[in-house]
Amino acid sequence: MSTASITDAMQRAEELRRMLHDANYEYYVLDAPTLSDEEYDRLFRELKALESAHPEIVTPDSPTLRVGAEPATQFEKVSHLSPLLSLDNAFSPDELRAWEDRNARVVREVREGGYVAEMKIDGAAVSLLYEGGVLVRGATRGNGRIGEDVTQNLRTIREIPLRLRGKVPSRMEIRGEVYMSQSGFRELNERRAAAGEPVYANPRNAAAGALRQLDPRLTAERPLRFFGFQAALDPDTGERLAFERQSELLAALADWGVPVNQRHRACKDLEDVIGFADEAYRDRFDLDYGIDGVVAKVEPLRLWPELGIIGEREPRWAIAYKFPPDLATSTLLSIEVNVGRTGTLNPYAVLEPVVISGVTVRQATLHNFEDIARKDLRVGDRVLVKRAGEVIPQVVAPIPERRTGKEPVYRPPDSCPACGTAVERPADEVAVYCPNGSCPGRLFWGLVHFAGREAMDIRGLGERTAQQLLDSGLVRDVADLYGLTAEQLQTLEGFAALSATNLVDAIAASRAQPLSRLLFALGVRHVGTHAAQVLARTFVTMDALLDAGEDAFAAVHGIGETTGHALAAYLGEPKNRDLIARLAAAGVNMTEPVERADRVTLAGLSFVITGTHGMSRKDMTSLIERHGGRVTGSVSGSTDYVVAGESPGSKLDRARELGIAVIDEAALRQLAETGPAVE
Ligand code: IVH
Repeated sequence: MSTASITDAMQRAEELRRMLHDANYEYYVLDAPTLSDEEYDRLFRELKALESAHPEIVTPDSPTLRVGAEPATQFEKVSHLSPLLSLDNAFSPDELRAWEDRNARVVREVREGGYVAEMKIDGAAVSLLYEGGVLVRGATRGNGRIGEDVTQNLRTIREIPLRLRGKVPSRMEIRGEVYMSQSGFRELNERRAAAGEPVYANPRNAAAGALRQLDPRLTAERPLRFFGFQAALDPDTGERLAFERQSELLAALADWGVPVNQRHRACKDLEDVIGFADEAYRDRFDLDYGIDGVVAKVEPLRLWPELGIIGEREPRWAIAYKFPPDLATSTLLSIEVNVGRTGTLNPYAVLEPVVISGVTVRQATLHNFEDIARKDLRVGDRVLVKRAGEVIPQVVAPIPERRTGKEPVYRPPDSCPACGTAVERPADEVAVYCPNGSCPGRLFWGLVHFAGREAMDIRGLGERTAQQLLDSGLVRDVADLYGLTAEQLQTLEGFAALSATNLVDAIAASRAQPLSRLLFALGVRHVGTHAAQVLARTFVTMDALLDAGEDAFAAVHGIGETTGHALAAYLGEPKNRDLIARLAAAGVNMTEPVERADRVTLAGLSFVITGTHGMSRKDMTSLIERHGGRVTGSVSGSTDYVVAGESPGSKLDRARELGIAVIDEAALRQLAETGPAVE
């Protein structure tokens, strides 16, 4: 490759990146697109092609890095530049005024300085670290000081700028809220419901769940968005922001290309803030993002340090003014019980229809039987029903004064409503289970779950088809799916030649799904997508899982005792082992296709890398992970090895202090080859 053509490639790549960044900014921040989708795709593809031809020209802010990052085995812990604080709440105008009175006792001028009123976005807090204007890291809030590195997932959110515009501080964290749009949330839940997967209670849980997916490709499928509202500089740089007011910071963030919620207002006094909140409350169902109140912030930034922080967590300079929950009363007509796919009996309330915040509510969750007993809910009761940003309304409490005295005390069922088997009540859980593995209630949801989008992803196998397959006797468990023929399917109502072939093809294609999905699809209690990914990447093959015991599962970082126990119990059951054997015989893939060595020699070991080595840090991390080890950022008592190269930093000192084994690259390679010596 001649130097000239590399230089050309670099120049062209930079030009393409700039055009793509501009297009993103115009689309997401200015809401005024200048490029068509086709043009965007064309530029994107050109950049991708250039970068594949010259991998050395890829920069960390390349838009091509938004997609396709490899799944992680776990998230690294990272320290924020300064803590992410939380907010005190006010629930009434009086409480808001009391906040101002308290502040005025600390800083007299606070009343004259005015406020900014912002929407309180109901999402997950994140902090985005920009160095030289380039996004280098993004983290969840965690405990406020230490969060989890979810950079790859945040990169998939197209409106998060990978490179800031204009002149910006050299090292800065932009804080804000990742949220799911209301429309995106509804669609996601509809998809999940159709696939028999549990729906998310609210957009906040859905956003937080999506951020913590180990596979960024799964995050990319979730409709996540971002609003920024704070900035924190690195104290070590000595730089300061030149703004005087919070509203100026918001304007600057938008100039830098950060999406800022334009619905905010500079308010003269608290009465203005209350007016803003009333309007927000009135309009809340017309917005495409969830809010649970407004945030009032003291405008003059110079007063913030003077006002200070209470208990290291809550600043005095801001407060959340929360909306009241939406309540209504209704009559509890009956308590019904569903059987979930893992056999859990789930009680729910059937209510006299009642309109709450514009939505007709007919059913509400009752959580579990213990909750019903604690609230002493009785059929026939007048009850208080709440919808608080949640899709699924909740029965808050009965209104005992309205009882006639004839309402019977509720007794939970002793037998499964679907199959009649006597229920089980594990001593350490509130849940009540149907233990019958072939319970039709469990089978139905088990089948729907198996075919779900995040499981084996068999398109065309939803609730209706699952019911037909079970009713017709064509399918008695999930392994039977792989023997179905188009002719058999055509005997079912609503299936024609094409739809039957399509379903058979979709089932056949699902054979290739990775072990992580299969493991999740089997519906083992406590094994969700996250645990399934961690387990599959650690054990790599189903055989390895079948050979391992409870202790081996629980020893995996990120897998708790409960999950380990449940998985061991599931895999220990001959019926389940038989099912897995039949799936394998039907050609279903039983391995995780991670780039991985033959043997998991480093399972359970934790490494910290410091200094420069012959191989890149990325390759070293991948070497360790391929062999089942994990790499963390800082040395602690649970670190097993520190791999030190040239000019190691303070991590080496720390390792010596703690008496942790220090090895070099050659020793690491040896260790990966043979595993640690057994003493
Ligand atoms: S200010 C004091 N502004 O609410 C620093 N927070 O309950 C807090 N939130 O963790 C940040 N919208 O993630 C601020 N406009 C807004 C907000 C907001 C949502 C979240 C934030 C924080 C939580 C506190």
